[in-house]
Amino acid sequence: MNNKVNFNFIEPELTEPDVNTLQPASYIRKEFVVSGNAKKAMLHITALGVYNAFLNGAAVGNQLLTPGYTNYFKRIQYQTYDVTEMISEGINAIGVILGDGWYRGCLGMTSKRGYYGRKTALAAVLEIETDQERILIHSDIDWKATQDGPIRQNDIKTYETVDAEKELTGWNCPDYDDSMWHECMQGNYEGDIVPQEGEAVIEHEHFRAKVLVTPDGEQILDFGQNLAGHIEFTVTGHAGHKVSLTMGEVLDENKNFTLKNLVTEGSDSFNGDLGQKLTYILREGTQTYKSQFLISGYRYARLENWPEEIKAENFVSIAVYSDVKETGFFQCSNEKINQLVSNSKWSQKSNFVDIPTDCPTRERAGWTGDINVFSETAAFYTDVRKFLRKWLNDFISLQREDGNLPYIVPQIPFELMGHDFNPIASGSAGWSDALSNVTMTLYRFYADKSFIETAYEPLKRFVAFNRERAKRRNPAHESKPDEYYDYILDTGYHYGEWLEPGAVMTEEAMRGFTNPDEEVATGWWYNTVNQVAQMAEILGKADEAEEYRALAEKIKYAYRQEFVVHGIAEPDRQCKYVRPVAMGLTTREESQKLMDDLANMAGANEYRIGTGFLTTYQILAVLSQYGHSDTAYKILENEKSPGWLYEVNKGATTTWENWYGVSEKGVPLDSQNHYAPGAALSWLFTYCCGIHLLKPGFEEIEIRPIPGGSLTWAKAEYHSVRGKIVSHWEKKDGKFLLHVEIPESVSASAVLPDGQRIRITKNIEDFECSYEVS
Ligand code: BGC
Repeated sequence: MNNKVNFNFIEPELTEPDVNTLQPASYIRKEFVVSGNAKKAMLHITALGVYNAFLNGAAVGNQLLTPGYTNYFKRIQYQTYDVTEMISEGINAIGVILGDGWYRGCLGMTSKRGYYGRKTALAAVLEIETDQERILIHSDIDWKATQDGPIRQNDIKTYETVDAEKELTGWNCPDYDDSMWHECMQGNYEGDIVPQEGEAVIEHEHFRAKVLVTPDGEQILDFGQNLAGHIEFTVTGHAGHKVSLTMGEVLDENKNFTLKNLVTEGSDSFNGDLGQKLTYILREGTQTYKSQFLISGYRYARLENWPEEIKAENFVSIAVYSDVKETGFFQCSNEKINQLVSNSKWSQKSNFVDIPTDCPTRERAGWTGDINVFSETAAFYTDVRKFLRKWLNDFISLQREDGNLPYIVPQIPFELMGHDFNPIASGSAGWSDALSNVTMTLYRFYADKSFIETAYEPLKRFVAFNRERAKRRNPAHESKPDEYYDYILDTGYHYGEWLEPGAVMTEEAMRGFTNPDEEVATGWWYNTVNQVAQMAEILGKADEAEEYRALAEKIKYAYRQEFVVHGIAEPDRQCKYVRPVAMGLTTREESQKLMDDLANMAGANEYRIGTGFLTTYQILAVLSQYGHSDTAYKILENEKSPGWLYEVNKGATTTWENWYGVSEKGVPLDSQNHYAPGAALSWLFTYCCGIHLLKPGFEEIEIRPIPGGSLTWAKAEYHSVRGKIVSHWEKKDGKFLLHVEIPESVSASAVLPDGQRIRITKNIEDFECSYEVS
C-alpha cells in the first residue's frame, strides 16, 4: 500500500452558499465493483468540513468530527481506516455525510461563520487488494451529491435541524437510485495533508436523565453531569411534528432553564447566537436520533413540543471527547475534594474535543492561556502527548513573521470577518507563553526531547519579539529609569492576571489595551526566557543557554527593582505574591517573607481564594514550598465563596470560569465549565501525596507527602511512562502510614512528615512514623 496518498478534492455544492446562513449537510456517494475477495482494503479520507463515512451502509470507524481541527490555512489531517471486512465482492457503495464543522461553521464568541472557507469539500482514496485485482478509487467529480437529505441545517456549535421525512433510505448502500443527485465539482486544497496526529474524538460515558418541570412550566431533562456531547433520544409521533432540544449547563436562581450565563456581561452586541439547539421534524412512528455534527456543552436539555409523555428512558446523554488515556487517580477522605477532582476531570474532558478549549459553550476556542496553566494537571490526569503535539504543531504554524505568537490555536482569523479587535491580543503574556510552558511540561512528564526540538527555534523568535517590545516604552512610564526599564515588558496587549474574584471579563479585556499589567508581562517573559535557556541546555547548545540565562538575569533584575525591592505594588492582590515566588524571581528569604505575608492575607480573607487564571494554578504549591501547607489546605477546603468547595456545595459537576459562577442566591454567571481554575489540583499529586518529579519522565522522584486539613488519608496513583507510581498515606492511631509503589526503573526516596528520608528499594514498600493527630 502507498505511503503517500494523492488526494483529489471534490465539492458537493454546485454554488457557493451564503456563508452567513446555516447550510444543509451534503450527502455524497459512489458505487464501485470489486472482483474477488478483499485481502486488504484501506480508506484514506479527509475533508474541508467534517465527514461521517459509510461503506455499504455501515459507519466507518467510530471517530467523530473528523478530520479534526487544525490550522486549515496550512494543514489538515486525514484518517486511514482498515475497511477490509466492509468490502464485498460485486457492487459496493461508499457514502459520506459532509458537514461544516470548524471549517465553515460558527466559531468563537461571535459565532460567525465561514472563517476558513466558503465551500466544503471531500477527498478520499480507497485502496483495495483482492485475490484477483488491485483497485484504486479516488474521489472524483463523477461522485454524486445532494443537499436534499435530512440534515437541513448543520453546525458544530449552534444548530442542527433535521427533517426525518427526508431520510434517504439506503443512500449509502449499493443499488440506490441517485439519478436525481448531481455530480460534484472539482475542489482544491493547497495546504499540507498530514496523517492524523491527534487523538480520536469518540463517544464515552452515557448518562440517564431525570425529567423535571421547571417553575415556569418548561419540561427539561437533568442528566446530572455537565459535559460536552450530544443526546440520543427516541420519540414516537406523527410525520411533520417538530420538536426541539436546547442544551444548557445550569438552572437560574428560580430553577428555570437558562442560557443567560453564556452571554458575556457588558458585551451583548459582541456575543453571537449560542444556539445549542437541535430541531427535529419527525417521520411517522418511532425513531431514534442523535446529532451528527452538533456538539453542545450541557447538563440540562429543554424539550419543546414533545408529542408524547416524556420518559427518562428515551434519552441518553453521551460525552464526546478526545480519547486520551487516563493516567492519574486521586482519592481522599474528604468527599467534597473527591467531587472537586471529578469536576476538574470533567472540565478537561469537556474541553478536550480535538483541541484544548476554554469552555465547551460560549467560545469553544483554543485559548492558549487556559491550557498553559492546566497542562501539568492535565498531564497527571491523562496521557496528553498525542493530543498536545498536534496542537503545538498548529501553534508553531501560526507564528508571525515578527516572531509574535497567537493567543488562540488554531487561531480564529477574526480579521477576515472584519474584526480588528482580537489579533492585537497576540503575544499576550501567559497566553502566548503557553508554547514554552506546555512544551516544558511535556518534556518533564515524558522525557521526550522532540517537543523541545520542535518549539525551540520558534521560541527564540518569540523571545526576540518580546525583547523588541520591551525596548519600546509605554508612554505612561517615560520617567522610569533607563538602567533597567528596557527589560520591563510594558507594551503590547496583555490579558493580565484574568478573572480574580469580582473581575468583570469585558473590563479586564479592555484594560489590556490601555493599561496592560507590566508585572504579569515581565514575569511571564522571564519565565519563558528561563525555560528557553533550559531547553538550550537540554539540546546541548551551551552558548545559547548562556545567552538566554544572561537575558533572564537582566529581566529578573528589572522585575525585582520594579516589583519586589520596593515592595509589592498592589499588596491586596494574592497574585502579586504568588507569581514572583512561583517563577523564581525572588531570593529564598524574600520568598519566605512573601509566603508568610500571603498566608496572613489568606487568613484575614477567611481562606477565600483571591487569585485569577495566571496564579490560581500555583498558589497551593508555593504556599507548601515555604511551609504553609496548612494555609494551602485551608484555601482548598474553604467552603465560603469564592472557593473550590463552595462550587461543589452549589452542586457544580465541572469547574467554573468565574469564582462567582453561581451566587449565594443561585444566580449563574459565565461559563460553568472552564478547566483553568481547577489547574491547582496537580498539588494533590505533588504535595498532598508528595509525588515530586526530580528527573524528566519520572526517572527519579521523591515521595514527600504532606498530610493536613481535614484529611485522614489520601491516595494518588500516577501511570508514568515508566510505570505505576502510588503514594497512599493514612493517619491512624497516632501514626502516619505510607504505602508506596514504584516501577523498577525509577529511583526514589521517601520523606516522612517527621523528616526521615528513606531510600525506596522495593517496588512496593510501607513506611510509618509517629504523627500527632490534630
Ligand atoms: C475565555 C478564556 C480566555 C480569555 C482570555 C475568555 O473569553 O473564555 O478562558 O483565556 O477569554 O483572557
